[in-house]
Amino acid sequence: MNKIKNPQRIGILTAGGDCPGINAAIRGVGKTAIVKYGMQVVGISDGFTGMINKEFTELTEHNLSGILTLGGTILGTSREKPFKGSNKGKKELSKPKLIKEHYEQMGLDCLVCIGGNGTLKTAYLLSEEGLNIVGIPKTIDNDVWGTDITFGFDSAVNIATEAIDRLHSTANSHKRIMVIELMGHNAGWIALYSGVAGGGDVILIPEIPFNENNIRDYLLKRANEYKPYSIVVVAEGIKTPSKDKSPGQYLSRRINELTGLETRETVLGYIQRGGSPSPMDRILASRFGATAANMIAEKEYGKMVAQKNCEITSVPLSEVAGKTRLVEKDNPLLMKAKEMGTNFGE
Ligand code: F6P
Repeated sequence: MNKIKNPQRIGILTAGGDCPGINAAIRGVGKTAIVKYGMQVVGISDGFTGMINKEFTELTEHNLSGILTLGGTILGTSREKPFKGSNKGKKELSKPKLIKEHYEQMGLDCLVCIGGNGTLKTAYLLSEEGLNIVGIPKTIDNDVWGTDITFGFDSAVNIATEAIDRLHSTANSHKRIMVIELMGHNAGWIALYSGVAGGGDVILIPEIPFNENNIRDYLLKRANEYKPYSIVVVAEGIKTPSKDKSPGQYLSRRINELTGLETRETVLGYIQRGGSPSPMDRILASRFGATAANMIAEKEYGKMVAQKNCEITSVPLSEVAGKTRLVEKDNPLLMKAKEMGTNFGE
């Protein structure tokens, strides 16, 4: 491609919890920007921390090669929230002002922010400060407003479903109740999808308040009908009266106390965020990344790439910031699971 005079220069950062697919998204933005538009691309280190400290590296076709299948993020990430906390009385510039100054010193025409709810809120606030911003929604939690799905979610559901599949054989051998706690922050998407995919008998999500006695009655009924074991899938965000950090451990203890049945728990934790992205996440992340580059070429700033009804589109960051997408009470998959007899603790 002929060298373009005054090419656009874009920065990419990844912030918040990591997930499979981030590198596919970085690659999608970077390769499209370079190959299709002749843009210059820099990767910012460790999320917004890298903008505060002006730490970045040039991204090229060479160092963007071979990262499609890599888990995590080659740029590093952080949970830095530049707009949190005040700078009153301090001499140095506030973090947002530092970010804006470094954005200008780096000669950026646009900053691509790849992240979940917190990152996208910061991205919106930076766009209000006058930076050209494009957001890309990523998180295993699938709880970003404005998009039907985020990349990271499919990989996490695959990992969690495989774990649940494995619990069936050991629960059957020992005639036990197996409780598995899954991530998802304040939303129940991972627990709902992998609970259905993995044949969970009880699925507890934050969006549906549960009653311990109803769970007791359901599990005892199964045991009395000689169902040798049961699988209980618990989202980490459910509300439990106990202070102990793990809802899975709490439910395991209470189920044993209430039913007398032998019960064990597994907290799957960060396994759900690790490893290579699923093929679907590689595709979705690549599509999101390439679309972000198209938006930059069209100077379509202040928006987030999204998938709506299987189409890749964009939504204003102002509509996304500060919101969380939770499982709806009439969610179609939830309805079908209930019709099949899955217990949601109600
Ligand atoms: O947002 C992704 C996520 O894995 C949540 O599901 C989980 O609650 C949280 O991050 C854990 O945060 P950290 O990685 O800071 O421990």
